[in-house]
Amino acid sequence: MPGSKILPATIGAMARDLFITGTDTGVGKTQVSVAFLHALRARGLRAIGMKPVASGCHWTPEGWRNEDALALLEASDPRPAYALVNPFALTTPTAPTIAAQKAGVVVELPPILAAYRSLRQQAESVVVEGVGGWLAPLAEGIEQADLVRAFDLDLVLVVAMRLGCLNHARLTARAIAGDRCRLVGWVANGVAEPLDFADEYFVALQQHLAVPCLGRIPFLPTASAPELASLLSLPA
Ligand SMILES: Nc1ncnc2c1ncn2[C@@H]1O[C@H](COP(=O)(O)OP(=O)(O)O)[C@@H](O)[C@H]1O
Ligand SMILES: [Mg+2]
Repeated sequence: MPGSKILPATIGAMARDLFITGTDTGVGKTQVSVAFLHALRARGLRAIGMKPVASGCHWTPEGWRNEDALALLEASDPRPAYALVNPFALTTPTAPTIAAQKAGVVVELPPILAAYRSLRQQAESVVVEGVGGWLAPLAEGIEQADLVRAFDLDLVLVVAMRLGCLNHARLTARAIAGDRCRLVGWVANGVAEPLDFADEYFVALQQHLAVPCLGRIPFLPTASAPELASLLSLPA
């Protein structure tokens, strides 16, 4: 909620909440979310990651855990309770709506909003990772856009730099605008190599996406989160 944001006056426009979406699943949303958390923390901000709905979990003595949510938690400072970072941990590794159906779980917005508000009080910035691509439903009857509007989040689009990226990126940007959500930047992520004409694709994406590129990450299988963070700019 716009009115519920608690920002120390000294931090100003740099502290903001981001929603990280992507051109598809497996495009680097978690990787980029973790990198943004490090970039925010490198500026002295308290920053917490959130994965409101996660599918694909493993059992631990503490309960069901999801790898994305654990990575976000690990990159967070402070580190809140797992249940606040990932209020809905669905066990089956498939689309959230199907995973919820298999588990007999009804995913609703109010517990997610409550968790988000709690995180908001513990940090200057919350980085929320979406599910799959933009139009993957968050839950039965709930779009990712509903959550983005409820939280009043700025969106960052992670573009997997591979064949088809122009189409996927433009479709996603158009859908985000159609959903009356605010795209503030995009990140070019080299999920596989090599991509012929990678520079040409990058230039074409710059031309077609109306928002700034916040970073160009090459295929870097062994890069640390701080190294990836150094390749990103925070949205203006
Ligand atoms: N720039 C990159 N270089 C090398 N591997 C990457 C890069 N970005 C992502 N990956 C790898 O690709 C896989 C998918 O990334 P991930 O962040 O989990 O995607 P998503 O959250 O969109 O599903 C992971 O194994 C991740 O380590
Ligand atoms: Mg992920």
